Order: sequence, then structure tokens, then C-alpha cells
Amino acid sequence: MSKVDVVLGLCFGDEGKGKIVDFLSEGYDVVSRFNGGDNAGHTLYRDGEKIVLHLVPSGILNDCINIIGNGVVINPISLKREIQMLENIGIDVKSKLVISDKSHIIKPIHIHKDIENENRKGDLRIGSTLKGIGPCYSDKYSRVGTRMGEIPNYPFSDEDQEFKEACQFISKYRIENTEILINKLLDKGNKVLAEGAQATGLDIDFGTYPYVTSSPTTIGGVIQGLGVPPRRIGKIFGIMKSYSTRVGNGPFDSEIEGPMEDIICKNGNEYGSTTGRKRRCGWLDLDQIKYSIMVNGISEIFMTKVDVLNGVSEVKILNNGSLKSLSPWVDIHDHKMSEYISYIRSQLQIKITAISYGPNKKDLKFL
Ligand code: GDP
Ligand code: IMO
Ligand code: MG
Repeated sequence: MSKVDVVLGLCFGDEGKGKIVDFLSEGYDVVSRFNGGDNAGHTLYRDGEKIVLHLVPSGILNDCINIIGNGVVINPISLKREIQMLENIGIDVKSKLVISDKSHIIKPIHIHKDIENENRKGDLRIGSTLKGIGPCYSDKYSRVGTRMGEIPNYPFSDEDQEFKEACQFISKYRIENTEILINKLLDKGNKVLAEGAQATGLDIDFGTYPYVTSSPTTIGGVIQGLGVPPRRIGKIFGIMKSYSTRVGNGPFDSEIEGPMEDIICKNGNEYGSTTGRKRRCGWLDLDQIKYSIMVNGISEIFMTKVDVLNGVSEVKILNNGSLKSLSPWVDIHDHKMSEYISYIRSQLQIKITAISYGPNKKDLKFL
């Protein structure tokens, strides 16, 4: 029986999921997003050209069907912009993209509400991307939302010109029942990869509530957000960086204070793919990773951005509540880096499948 393999972020997002999905999707027939919206920013490189995707799955550069599942919330204006960007670089989006008729629409009012909520919270604000994600999911669960399948009958008002035009633009693409499509494709033996947005630390239940996003970023979100039964779930790939980052507010146990934070931020170019905000940087938090492995049933790990720690004067890891120093390394051939990986593997008791040492697809070393 064909399975759905899954890619999930293990920390607070921006672990490099986009790059890994782009790489893995060469071996899949279908790539599908199941949660979140354009608060996500997944970066891919094609022939040295940087492409940031917010809604379209990261398999779009490859020869596969890309599905935006029912669990996703869609800002039509963002999706239109993204489709146009991809078409401008020669991608045949019309034949490759399918949008669930059950995915919910982010309207201008949701963005206003997001801003209002954050302003009201003052110092306690979440640090939302202000894309209207929370208010859109609130409407979904209050049963007053609007779904993509309703676009043809939606009563647009004249003041929503840009929104209306974007909806009309998107309605020319495939909008259909994607849970039936995915299950049929699986029945025919196609391989499906589910691409998570955000990460366990931002999960609506298992993240650092209330400093979280408004969707399930964990394994249960795949089942609900695509309409595939649990027995169809195959491998569950966890993505983590060799250090941690967090953009937005909320607890961050391994956060670095002092000059080393700036060094890692600069080496890793840690600025948000969606908002451009500086990401807070910290050491790898194994306690958080162990928790993420547990709630998701992670089967193997891809560790990204090991190159960012090349040549730094100190390397630490948070484990069992305390910081441990490990020997720094010069480059990825340095045996000190192998020691770092061995230590992580021994503490997590899990397979580290590959390390990523650069933003390009080919910058991956299988262990
Ligand atoms: P995502 O949200 O998990 O897809 O990650 P983002 O795309 O938001 O952020 C990851 C950033 O790191 C992007 O700018 C990637 O191009 C970059 N990146 C991914 N893997 C590596 C790596 O191994 N080394 C370096 N230096 N950069 C990487
Ligand atoms: P990817 O998929 C990193 C964070 C925001 C904020 C909190 C709530 O690229 O890893 P929201 O806009 O959902 O109301 O924001 O979640 N956040 C992310 N941080 N990567 C992301 O996605 C994120 N999506 C949301 O910064 O703290
Ligand atoms: Mg990102």
C-alpha cells in the first residue's frame, strides 16, 4: 500500500523544511501542504536563484502534483502573487497545482482582526506575522468561514476589489475535493509527501501556548488537514537546525545572550522569509527535540545549517535542562563535527539521515 511520508519542523520553524522537501520531492509523485497559510516562508534555490514559497508546496519545481490541502488557510492575494511569480519563471502551475475546495479563505477582515488582537495585547503580543491566520481559523471553528469551493457564489462587495480579483484569478486553477484525489492517487501506487509548515514549538496544542500559531503543526494535522487515514502514514521526517531560532515572542530556553547570538544570526542569515524580522538565535535544545520526536513519532532526522557553526569559538547544546559545551569545528570535514552529531544521535536515540551544509539542494551529506 502506498504511503504518505511527512516532513515536520521540530523546533520553532524555519529549520529548512522547504529545501529538504524540494530535495525529497524528486522521489515523490505528490507533495501536499496540510496546515498554516502564508505565515510560512519556505526557501528553495533553483540554479542559484532564490524562491520563497508561502502557500504553494515545495515540490512545485519538480515533476509532481502539488496539493494545497483542506487544513490550509489561503489568502487569495498572496496565492495569486505566488502563482504569478512561479509562472514568470516558467513553471506550469495550472497543470501542477490543486487546491482543496475545503481550504478556508483569509479575507481582509482577518488581517485587520490580527492587527487589532496584537495591538490589544501590547507587551504580551505573540509577534504574529499579521497574515490573518488566527482570525481565519477562528471563523473556521466558529463555523462562519468561507471555503475555496464557495468562490463562484461569494457576494463580493465593491470595496474588496483586489481581493475579488485575486479570487477570480485563482478560480481558474484546479479547486476540487483533494481528500478523494490524494486517496485515489495512493490507491494507484503514487508516493505522497506531506509538507508541514511551522513546527512543533508553534503547534496550537503542543507548542508554547499562547505564543503559537493557530493550526496543528504536528502529525495529527496531516490526517485532519489532508483527509488521509493514520494507516496510510509512512515515514515521518523531522527537520532541525544544528542550532535554534525563534521569530516572534515566547519562551526560548536555549536563547543565546551576547555577541555569539549576533555571530550565529549573521552566519545563518537569520531573518524571516515572510516578514524579514530578525530571528532570535539559541543553541540546539535537545529537550525540545525529544518532546517533538515523542509527539510526532519521528522516524528519522535531517539536520540543517551545520555550516553556520563552522569556525565559531564555542558550541553548546541544551540537554536535560543544562547547557553542555562541545568542541567547536572548523568545517564539515572536521572530526569535531562528527562528534557533535554522534553526541546528538546518542542522546536522541534516533537516526540522523543527512546533514545539510548549504542552502542548495545538492548541499546534503547522507550519513
Ligand atoms: P523553512 O521555513 O523550514 O522552509 O525554512 P526557511 O526557508 O524559512 O529558512 C531556512 C533558511 O536557511 C533559508 O534561507 C534557506 O535557504 C537556508 N538554508 C537551508 N538549509 C541550509 C543549510 O544547510 N545551510 C545554510 N547556510 N542555509 C540553509
Ligand atoms: P515556517 O513554515 C517561523 C510564528 C510567528 C509568531 C507565531 C504566530 O516558515 O517555518 P501567526 O502568523 O501564525 O499568527 O504567528 O508563529 N510563525 C513562524 N515562525 N516560521 C514559520 O513558518 C512561522 N509561522 C508562524 O513569528 O511568533
Ligand atoms: Mg520559514
